[in-house]
Amino acid sequence: MNSEARHMKALTSTNYFFKNQTNFYRGKVRDVYSIKDDLLVVVACDRISAFDHVLPKSIPFKGQVLNEIAALFLEATSDIVPNWKISTPDPQVTIGHHCEAIPIEFVVRNYLTGHAWRVYKEGGRMLCGNKLPNGLKENDRLPQPIITPATKASSGHDEDISLDAILDNKLVSKKQLDKLVETAFALFERGKEYAADRGLILVDTKYEFGKKDSKIYLIDEVHTPDSSRFFYLDSYEDLQAKGKPQRQLSKEFVREWLMENGFQGLKGEVVPDMPDAFVQSITDRYTELYEAMTGAKIKHRSYENIIDDMEAAINEELTKFE
Ligand SMILES: Nc1ncnc2c1ncn2[C@@H]1O[C@H](COP(=O)(O)OP(=O)(O)OP(=O)(O)O)[C@@H](O)[C@H]1O
Ligand SMILES: [Mg+2]
Repeated sequence: MNSEARHMKALTSTNYFFKNQTNFYRGKVRDVYSIKDDLLVVVACDRISAFDHVLPKSIPFKGQVLNEIAALFLEATSDIVPNWKISTPDPQVTIGHHCEAIPIEFVVRNYLTGHAWRVYKEGGRMLCGNKLPNGLKENDRLPQPIITPATKASSGHDEDISLDAILDNKLVSKKQLDKLVETAFALFERGKEYAADRGLILVDTKYEFGKKDSKIYLIDEVHTPDSSRFFYLDSYEDLQAKGKPQRQLSKEFVREWLMENGFQGLKGEVVPDMPDAFVQSITDRYTELYEAMTGAKIKHRSYENIIDDMEAAINEELTKFE
């Protein structure tokens, strides 16, 4: 296949039926297959979401970037907390433990960016029980990382929640919550160090946890461009001093493009058509982040026969668990 053909394709969705399959769930990005009651086969498709909407075009190589970065960090943090990953039989697939998901997103922030900045700009000085100091501007570093959990709503937008409210709503016990918060901060420190070694700043990120055999597991994706924001370290101070926007590696520029084109996820709005050049620029950004984070060139997967090859690779791996 020539390189042009390679760039024309993307994996929007899958539709498998595996042996012992007990459930199928399509998230905004991932296709999640349950096998018996203890395994998940998770396909990171090339769908992209913004403002909680799946956009009409898929992004070549995005699923691979997500799956491979997540796999890297699940491995690089397994001394901190056990995690769901067992194996990655395809660049876009992880097979792992099916956990009982805790319905809270543990967001850790070290900078006044994104949602935190929007709250602050409107005059808010409390964020999920954290007091924010006066006199900060967008993208300033916070005195220390803070945790700003959000409820993982089964539909619609996620909402901020304080640690006290999590306990009041009995979502987890006090002991578990303490452990989850401690773990989220430890994971963030690890991510921060890793990013710094690679010339990046881990700005903020989101962790999800689940339970299995009454033990806590890290689930879902870790330190990917969908769940995290990164700035370039070398230009950070200078840009802040000059009041300029940061050089970001995240999905933020997709949100900005959508807003410029009249879409911010509100009722009645229509997602603008995404020109091919824009799709290509998203692929390029994800690739840039992959290469910056891993220090290695991405080995682009082949999209030729992807459906069959992926299925075969998953089936072969699943025979090990029969
Ligand atoms: N090991 C695991 N055990 C149980 N659930 C998991 C595990 N790993 C990931 N998940 C869940 O699988 C889904 C992954 O799908 P995806 O990331 O596309 O969803 P999302 O768009 O983030 O959220 P939503 O489920 O609200 O659409 C998430 O709901 C996530 O919480
Ligand atoms: Mg997700």
